[in-house]
Amino acid sequence: MTTYLKKTLWAAALLTGTFGKLSAQSVKGLLADKSLVKHANNIFKSAGQQYRYLAGRLPANRFPKTFYAKADSLETSGSGWWCSGFYPGTLLYLYKQTHDAATLTEAQRMLKLLEVEQHNKTTHDLGFMMYCSFGNALQIAPKPGYKQILLNSAKSLSSRFDAKVGAIKSWDSKKQEYLVIIDNMMNLELLFWATRATGDSSYYKIAVTHANTTMKNHFRPDFSSYHVINYNPATGAVQQKRTAQGYADESAWARGQAWGLYGYTVMYRETKNKKYLNQANRIAQFILNHPNLPKDKIPYWDFNAPNIPNALRDASAGAVMASALLELCRYADPSQAKIYFNAAQTMLKTLSAPPYLAAAKTNGGFILQHSVGHIPQGTEVDVPLTYADYYYIEGLERYKNFSR
Ligand code: GLY
Repeated sequence: MTTYLKKTLWAAALLTGTFGKLSAQSVKGLLADKSLVKHANNIFKSAGQQYRYLAGRLPANRFPKTFYAKADSLETSGSGWWCSGFYPGTLLYLYKQTHDAATLTEAQRMLKLLEVEQHNKTTHDLGFMMYCSFGNALQIAPKPGYKQILLNSAKSLSSRFDAKVGAIKSWDSKKQEYLVIIDNMMNLELLFWATRATGDSSYYKIAVTHANTTMKNHFRPDFSSYHVINYNPATGAVQQKRTAQGYADESAWARGQAWGLYGYTVMYRETKNKKYLNQANRIAQFILNHPNLPKDKIPYWDFNAPNIPNALRDASAGAVMASALLELCRYADPSQAKIYFNAAQTMLKTLSAPPYLAAAKTNGGFILQHSVGHIPQGTEVDVPLTYADYYYIEGLERYKNFSR
């Protein structure tokens, strides 16, 4: 490892306290509202009970995916679905807050089922799947073996990197296509962890190269992002910029903006390179200054959805944005920091009440209602989603860390 890299890693570790996951620290001028913190503490308890109800409905060896209320139907997946890490990850966050032993037992049961994915080289989602689960477990309730599982996962993820394109391949496709989606920024955290854990800088370099390529090609002049970039695998040239889950190729799909915001905030945390902080700030400004962002700050599923103000909202995008802003405000200058903190607070307040926060034993046992998975495909439309729950609980914990 170079001296520069060592210094950067050390600075990042000091800043984040616990290598990657944010620890409690007071930030001058930003103070959590006592009543929202009290509410958050109650939500941690009720969410734990809600997830116990969900666990009771879960078939053996299956992961929760979503719930269709009209049919009272819980949809589940195997461990290979990109969202399999969120349920154990949320359980671990809840265990950290409540110390409820049954919550930990359920998390550990799911981790066992998830282990096999460490060798999966067919997906770019290993960061979501393995770092949100085993990464949390390593910090909250460590066991021998977790570190090796994470390292194998980082190796599997790295196998999808191509130096000519300068990016990790997101979706396997036709031979003449190399598809990279903005969501992939979320998988880089696992690679930074792997360099810290081993001293092998190759993971770090892959993450930085991927982030630079994405910064160059995914963003428009207003700092909104495309969803999918199709590269020529032989030359690395951009062949097409388009959407898959958004309203249109030129629209700003809300969750894509959220993944970019979170991703570049992590890039700054891990590298301390100001260009990533600038990028995160500009993405935040696109989101927060957008005329179509509602007053309650939970975005429509696409900033350019055709039927605004009657378009569906996406609680998952709001949850990811809130959590990201609560990290970004620690790095931003004081005037911006206050804006980010206040916006995140509004998002969390909105999500912490109906119609978003589900009543006990409704919503199939999920915590939040009203997320949007894939409207163009007509799947997971206005439903609960595991990642909405995960980033919401993470956001509440981050918010709580601003109390004294
Ligand atoms: N493709 C991951 C997502 O739906 O955000």
